[in-house]
Amino acid sequence: MTTLINGKEIAQNLRDSIKKEIEDLKSEIGKVPGLAVVQVGNVAASSIYVKAKTKSAKEVGIDVIDHHLPEKTTQEELLKIIQSLNNQDNVNGILVQLPLPKHINEQIILDSIHPNKDADGFHPLNVGKLSIASNNNENLLIPCTPYGCLIMLKGLGVELSGKNAVVIGRSNIIGKPMAQLLLKESCTVTIAHSKTKDIQNICQKADIIVAAVGVPKMVKGNWIQKDAIVIDVGINRIEVEIEGEIKNKLVGDVNFDEAKLIASAITPVPGGVGPMTIACLLRNTTMAFKNTLK
Ligand code: GUN
Repeated sequence: MTTLINGKEIAQNLRDSIKKEIEDLKSEIGKVPGLAVVQVGNVAASSIYVKAKTKSAKEVGIDVIDHHLPEKTTQEELLKIIQSLNNQDNVNGILVQLPLPKHINEQIILDSIHPNKDADGFHPLNVGKLSIASNNNENLLIPCTPYGCLIMLKGLGVELSGKNAVVIGRSNIIGKPMAQLLLKESCTVTIAHSKTKDIQNICQKADIIVAAVGVPKMVKGNWIQKDAIVIDVGINRIEVEIEGEIKNKLVGDVNFDEAKLIASAITPVPGGVGPMTIACLLRNTTMAFKNTLK
């Protein structure tokens, strides 16, 4: 029987435990974590993500400081706002929603966020800490989507050590930190990407596949080894014909209908990795807050 990994439920449990932790902190010290959410411009997908992140943060008791800035905001203006958030004691986490408008250099902006307030775990110092730290992930600010994938993998209760893991995609946000997290679990990690030769053959040797490539249904059933675990990070909108009508449908990077017949466990799209990303953002913000109390 294939296990359908229920990201919605795992994320709900994580949010519940964060909410309880924040309630306890509030009654002990009278303070709650604060998260600044910065959006520049009006990219539709970003607006949806920012709304969902804000709503979830408020639900667990995090104070949200919202900065929705016009598209024409200059890099200097944005840097000034981040500088000011870096200096505000009531702000423990800063999230700048990506992508930023073309005239702003994303890396300069990410570098300007104080590493202790880096709710996304994208600052070079936190990227470096993730690759160096040999301990568990306690205290680290870790990119939210890959951390969510790791929590789902660990929740399966299978030994990760020694497993062949293939990560498809090499982005700074997902692929690279995912590989680091799996390496820390003593997996043998391969990162496949657009220039990789014979990707199907590489995937066929994987005990764990994490697909984060942004190509709808790229990973076919015959790419997957019997009883492999498949984590699908892709969120792709495609058009399908249903009863003579063209409709939009969300699909992952994995051909789910084929893969579910072969994998031992698989995440659906939607309802798999997606909800975990936001839950891990709340975890990072709470972690950053707790780090200030030490
Ligand atoms: N854009 C797409 N994913 C993310 C994310 O995880 N964090 C931020 N800040 N922007 C994103």
